[in-house]
Amino acid sequence: MDDLISSHQEEYGQGPDIIAQAPGRVNLIGEHTDYNDGFVLPMAIDYYVRVAVSGRKDQHLRFYSVDFNDRKRTSLSNLRFKREDRWANYLKGVISVLQNRGYITGGLSFTVSGNIPVGVGLSSSAALEVATAYAVQKLLGFEMSGPELARLAQEAENSFVGVHCGIMDQFVSRMGKAGTALFIDTRSMEYRHIPVSLRSVKILITNSNVPRSLADSEYNQRRADCEKCVTLLNPRKTGASLRDYTAEDLRDSLGLIPETTRKRCLHVVEENERVREAASCLRRNDIASFGKLMNRSHESLRDQYEVSCPELDWLVKRAWETEGVYGSRMTGAGFGGCTVTLIEEKAIPQYEARLEAYERIFSFKPEVFLCQPADGARIIFERQRG
Ligand code: GLA
Repeated sequence: MDDLISSHQEEYGQGPDIIAQAPGRVNLIGEHTDYNDGFVLPMAIDYYVRVAVSGRKDQHLRFYSVDFNDRKRTSLSNLRFKREDRWANYLKGVISVLQNRGYITGGLSFTVSGNIPVGVGLSSSAALEVATAYAVQKLLGFEMSGPELARLAQEAENSFVGVHCGIMDQFVSRMGKAGTALFIDTRSMEYRHIPVSLRSVKILITNSNVPRSLADSEYNQRRADCEKCVTLLNPRKTGASLRDYTAEDLRDSLGLIPETTRKRCLHVVEENERVREAASCLRRNDIASFGKLMNRSHESLRDQYEVSCPELDWLVKRAWETEGVYGSRMTGAGFGGCTVTLIEEKAIPQYEARLEAYERIFSFKPEVFLCQPADGARIIFERQRG
């Protein structure tokens, strides 16, 4: 943290007023359900981003990324999404939403640093949005609950960045708690922390390192498909979402809905069921059954929702073949990114050995690392005001 303080000081000639930290996440189960009013079961991980902020006397906005050694600037009257601003768009998006709500009246200087692998589906962007929103909230002193702040960060991503993501990533980044996974009902926004006590079982992430070039466009497309399906299923049921239908309803709709759309929606309704079951397995500490549900989830994302890719399928298969693995699946939006695997600690070398051929076959280097269920966003520094 001292490094971040001194970087901010050197960059702006004044130390930060506040530093907020927000974690990335791994989703254990419940994929592509959150924008369908469904259930999810992610956990915050022990990788984070830190955002330092100080107020300015003018109307300028300055952004400095220590890790990218990159600087961006704009002003409050000129807040627009710009492709070339890359990482800074997430901060700009949050400021823009806060400005529209009347919270922001003066300029701000930001310094950012973190260790969440970027662009691999571990929600580094959601963490950046949440840390920014939390730091500014603390600086300006306005009231906002954790779930409200998550919504605001999501809105920044939806309306400013243009990715129509659900609430899961921002919510768990703000509301996560060490040692637990977070069950969220994304319709009522009720949530429960469920203890994850795995003892010798580890949560292993494998980064496929596949560039996720399709992720945003395909993501928005899938979301539109789900909405279309609901309109076709029952044009008169206003406010409905896939959450309100069963697998049976979809089976009965043969001929009414284009086949690809129907298959995709079947994934969503079945995945919702799996999340509920998985949550109860976790409560009973039945890791074997939990792992099987993860495997079913992967198959469904691969065959019905069609958001996996050969590299992720290959990695998941190697995990399934390894003795000591309880479950393995792709995690996050898909089209590259990571897998998550529940594995006995002593089986990890075996699994890693099986990955040796990956680079030869796919020309990407896989990365394997452990993670722990961690706390959500926190304020880690506050300058004493005189
Ligand atoms: C991304 C989105 C989430 C969620 C997942 C898929 O991570 O940001 O809202 O939709 O994809 O489950």
